[in-house]
Amino acid sequence: MSDVYRVSQDWARHAHVDAEKYAALYDAAASDPTGFWLDQAQRLDWIVPPTVADQSSFDEADFGVRWFADGRLNVAANCLDRHLASRGNDVALIWEPDAPEEEPKRFTYLELFQHVCRFANVLKAEGVAKGDRVTIYMPMIPEAAFAVLACARIGAIHSVVFGGFSPDALAGRIEDCDSRLVVTADCGRRGGKTIPLKANVDAAAERAPSLKRVIVVKATGADVPMTGRDVWYHEAAAQVSADCPAEPMDAEDPLFILYTSGSTGKPKGVLHSSGGYLLWASLTHHWCFDYRPGDVWWCAADIGWVTGHSYILYGPLANGATTLMYEGLPNWPDASRIWQVVDRHKVHTIFTAPTALRALMKEGDAFVAKTDRSSLKLLGTVGEPINPEAWRWYNDVVGEGRCPIVDTWWQTETGGAMIAPMPGATDLKPGSATKPLPGVHPQLVDETGKVLDGAVSGNLCITRSWPGQMRTVWGDHARFFQTYFTTYPGKYFTGDGCRRDEDGYYWITGRVDDVINVSGHRMGTAEVESALVLHAKVAEAAVVGMPHDVKGQGIYAYVTLNAGEAASEELRAELRQWVRTEIGPIATPDAIQFAPGLPKTRSGKIMRRILRKIAEGDVSSLGDTSTLADPSVVDDLVANRVG
Ligand code: WTA
Repeated sequence: MSDVYRVSQDWARHAHVDAEKYAALYDAAASDPTGFWLDQAQRLDWIVPPTVADQSSFDEADFGVRWFADGRLNVAANCLDRHLASRGNDVALIWEPDAPEEEPKRFTYLELFQHVCRFANVLKAEGVAKGDRVTIYMPMIPEAAFAVLACARIGAIHSVVFGGFSPDALAGRIEDCDSRLVVTADCGRRGGKTIPLKANVDAAAERAPSLKRVIVVKATGADVPMTGRDVWYHEAAAQVSADCPAEPMDAEDPLFILYTSGSTGKPKGVLHSSGGYLLWASLTHHWCFDYRPGDVWWCAADIGWVTGHSYILYGPLANGATTLMYEGLPNWPDASRIWQVVDRHKVHTIFTAPTALRALMKEGDAFVAKTDRSSLKLLGTVGEPINPEAWRWYNDVVGEGRCPIVDTWWQTETGGAMIAPMPGATDLKPGSATKPLPGVHPQLVDETGKVLDGAVSGNLCITRSWPGQMRTVWGDHARFFQTYFTTYPGKYFTGDGCRRDEDGYYWITGRVDDVINVSGHRMGTAEVESALVLHAKVAEAAVVGMPHDVKGQGIYAYVTLNAGEAASEELRAELRQWVRTEIGPIATPDAIQFAPGLPKTRSGKIMRRILRKIAEGDVSSLGDTSTLADPSVVDDLVANRVG
């Protein structure tokens, strides 16, 4: 019997949704989806309200994802304009700088609106029009939010690229969506270090012929050379008015592209729509986090990931919330910093990743205990399975038992939370994302696609569409269908393994494909392998995940060198640096094992199962190796395991 944390009576009484209401919502969404969703859609401000809801199909013959197709709206107007009359002077955005001794900034809804309109006019002056792609490669500064919302205002499609990605990774993403314009800053700052964003864009531009214009925000004041391609944001902004009407958009018009790693090939441009996505971001923020006017909401993600899109910007702003954006790291200058930010801004809800909690937990409770945290009322987590130990630490030490833990399972592809508790409705179990939200229909299947009932483990599929579902892979609709809907025909396959317990609670066990989750960031093993084999001394590489006590998973690389090349510590360091330069620091291998040969079947397929076991240190159960072309390579791999 796993332990259960019951919903507090206080939460049950005061929350937007209690257990009874959750059951009613779930039933209504299942039995009358059209009525339910048209009703829920009213939480948005439509120019033309939709009369149709779900028109999606997961079947090959009429495949497609479509919601609210005859509705028209503007996403930025939903996040800004509609709040002006009622809460124009309320704080929309709080910005907390990297260095604690610096002053935070606050923007009311009116001020944020004005900044966004001005940014939008700068984009327009540069010739950006509805449907154009704008790449945003920014640090966590307010202008990143202005730029994102400015795109939404004029109907341009933003593609935010995480500021930790390398010039190469950036160039690939600029080219893939044929983006003419990049918004960046001179430099970024994080944990006291600077990141040369503008220089990275310059390097990317050499490999990205589609790039014609770069708008540069002066953030740190670093001296950066400007070329004919570049324009300073503050100079351009001085030339335009602060009046910019919002572009009416169809619900199905694209809102943004976000690149994410899959098990094969280069990262996919996940495309989200305007109406369905915004509804899902807004509704899940309301349901899971029970936001109330006046609460200070802090999603401690980076804007370069989907969590930042949905829960720093779109969801909270659509709900008229005060959202906090933090430039720095949770544990810099020390492990109290995250809780000091909570105290400084009287944060009510913090939403962060298990990896951050594990890193902080390791530093000891004293860093937490010396802060106040009495403003906190709810604690959220996302990105990877949370181990019960970290869950309890969050609950007992950080929240002092007062704050429900909302563990949200979802993906870039889902737009917002899918399996997650509601604080007034759902009893909690440490380590479980609990139950599906209304409108979410999970199913567990075995390898052959057989549907598994009851308490069981299997592969997690979703059988019906939901408003926040991705619409396509940018430029490759066939890949969208192929990636998600062919493993188990007629179903969306998440790529995750999952256990359902006797109470119908879902326990995500991690990816079952060749994607690894490093510190809550998705990394395709194929991407790291491609980077390694680009090195002149590398003949072949195979990458798998390995357990890591802070990151969740680490990256373990097996590398075969070209004939005549010698393995050495220097080369190991060089290869680590190589991957950092090719992809970015998040892809740095934690362990590199030089392997004279890789375990392959006679048809040449690498047996990853064996490599995973060795990386995990589980060498006693390697299974049948007799089908290998050369079984003796396994002995060498075991003998020379790293770590
Ligand atoms: C994993 C992040 C367990 C999962 C929002 C998923 C989780 C992948 C959880 C998506 C959770 C995310 N519990 N696993 N609460 N949340 N995951 O696209 O493997 O960056 O498929 O989206 O993270 O990662 P992505």
